[in-house]
Amino acid sequence: MRTEHTTSSEEATRALARSFALQLNRGDVVALQGELGTGKTRFVKGICEAFEASRHVSSPSFVILNRYEGRDRSHRPLYLYHLDLYRVKSVEEIYDLGFEEFAYGDNVTLIEWSEQLGGLLPSRRFEVQLSYGDAEDQRRISIELVESPAPPVEGKSI
Ligand SMILES: Nc1ncnc2c1ncn2[C@@H]1O[C@H](COP(=O)(O)OP(=O)(O)O)[C@@H](O)[C@H]1O
Ligand SMILES: [Mg+2]
Repeated sequence: MRTEHTTSSEEATRALARSFALQLNRGDVVALQGELGTGKTRFVKGICEAFEASRHVSSPSFVILNRYEGRDRSHRPLYLYHLDLYRVKSVEEIYDLGFEEFAYGDNVTLIEWSEQLGGLLPSRRFEVQLSYGDAEDQRRISIELVESPAPPVEGKSI
């Protein structure tokens, strides 16, 4: 099921992400898509707030991958892996980060520019699509749990 939301501030986007995060469990993957500036990193920050791990969240644009230590609902330590694939040139680069180990492990994985994953995109993932609204601070955000393989992307399979 897909849900559609409109937010009018960065805080509202973070609040939406915090309530979305209530349904996340270990092993879940969140694939975020949307143009630069639509709020992907703010949404990630909201998810991390829900896991008490938001202090250091920033866009990992220059390092591709960040890891934050948070807590699950039973207060057990949990890692959140945050990827920003904007500058990634090949799927091999992502594979070499150990993507499959952490994305299929006991963690929560949050991926900006997930369309870059190609054949590495897990078949079960939450898809979050963000776009600009009509007003300056308005964003449209759709959220959907997808459980099928990604469509093939030319030149991106390994
Ligand atoms: N409704 C909104 N939701 C999220 N961010 C917003 C909103 N309105 C304005 N902004 C601003 O848009 C920018 C979003 O930045 P960021 O989350 O880094 O985007 P992305 O990661 O998609 O490039 C921030 O400067 C934020 O303050
Ligand atoms: Mg970002």
